[in-house]
Amino acid sequence: MPKYSLRVNGDTHEVDAPEDMPLLWVLRDLLGLTGTKFGCGENLCGACTVYVDGSPVRSCSRAISGVANRSVTTIEGLSPDGLNAVQEAWIAEDVPQCGYCQSGQIMAATALLAENPDPSDEQIDRAMLRNLCRCGTYQRIRKAIHRAAREG
Ligand code: FES
Ligand code: FES
Repeated sequence: MPKYSLRVNGDTHEVDAPEDMPLLWVLRDLLGLTGTKFGCGENLCGACTVYVDGSPVRSCSRAISGVANRSVTTIEGLSPDGLNAVQEAWIAEDVPQCGYCQSGQIMAATALLAENPDPSDEQIDRAMLRNLCRCGTYQRIRKAIHRAAREG
């Protein structure tokens, strides 16, 4: 099996994996980073969102061979020194219900605020459109993003 090197949350890992193994399973099954979730496996729901070289990607749809030698950030490494403003706001607004989609939502929201520090409702809805929540926490997500923008 091919060996790949990748940097995850600042640490370098060597993994033996088939070239088409999705990054999601490398993270969860080979590296034990289970904060990133499997939802649809088809690039539709956003539950598996991580950053590759700082940009959000769907880890269910990225093969390990395409991310070798690149830098990956997961929810576990999003704020190594504590909670970021989005995570604080998520707690303050009591956003999660079942929680399943939430690490992907937080990764997407953090990426949004890095690009646009004070988004409108419409900009939030557009940016978060492809991060689905079966529990329908969208109103609280929007409130938490506004709070993080204010307090971050
Ligand atoms: S699990 Fe990757 S987009 Fe749904
Ligand atoms: S909190 Fe349950 S799917 Fe989003």
